[in-house]
Amino acid sequence: MSGRATSTPGGKPPLYKIVMLGDSGVGKTSLVARLTNPDRPLNHDISATMGIEFDTQMLDTPQGKVKAQIWDTAGQERFARVLLPTYFRKAKGVILVYDITNAKSFESLSERWMAQLNDHSNADDLAKLLVGNKSDLEGSREVTAEKASAFCQEYGMEFLETSAKSGDNVLTAFEKLIGIVHDRALNAQSKSKGGSNALPKTAEKPAESDTVKLDDDGNSAADGNACGAC
Ligand code: GTP
Repeated sequence: MSGRATSTPGGKPPLYKIVMLGDSGVGKTSLVARLTNPDRPLNHDISATMGIEFDTQMLDTPQGKVKAQIWDTAGQERFARVLLPTYFRKAKGVILVYDITNAKSFESLSERWMAQLNDHSNADDLAKLLVGNKSDLEGSREVTAEKASAFCQEYGMEFLETSAKSGDNVLTAFEKLIGIVHDRALNAQSKSKGGSNALPKTAEKPAESDTVKLDDDGNSAADGNACGAC
């Protein structure tokens, strides 16, 4: 363990906002559910996310415990379009998810989601991880790991295959991303002028979980009020 600072001024673990991106149905909600409730069976009747939902989870990194505030948004175009600016605000990391049994969901990453990242955030400031989900469905695979690795080399990110169904690699994926985020924050902090030993909070007043729902026209009922970290 390094001798660098690992906590906020109040002695609490630092809090980082990370966001999930990817087409509808790739398993974003299921991955978050598996992380936060590892023993609960996968829900195949899960309804499509209609707005933004978020959960918080304590995670281990080589530099100590940190708290991740994980935002899960609707993959459906009509919702995502309206929500993305709020979604990316103060985010420190992003998990780009595709479904290994659905080539279109992989193509969407370069055709749609990377462009959204660049339009709505300073993409270079975000730690990124590529996740190929549904690895339990090997017999239906449409996207090879080699293809995904080539994408990662192009965009400068790491890659893991996961299964929200079996739980395989789910914790590892979240810990890998949050580890990169935390390391970057520690490096930035040690370089900053006057370097106090405390990390800043990156998201304020986190709720343990909360939801911003949209109506069928994509308008937010709460318009962000439900989220203390917006
Ligand atoms: P949106 O909310 O519409 O953006 O979709 P999403 O990306 O959050 O996908 P969701 O988690 O709702 O999962 C879609 C479907 O895939 C559900 O029926 C899940 O049960 C199923 N699913 C998710 N992950 C896995 C997995 O790892 N393996 C298998 N076999 N099914 C999965």
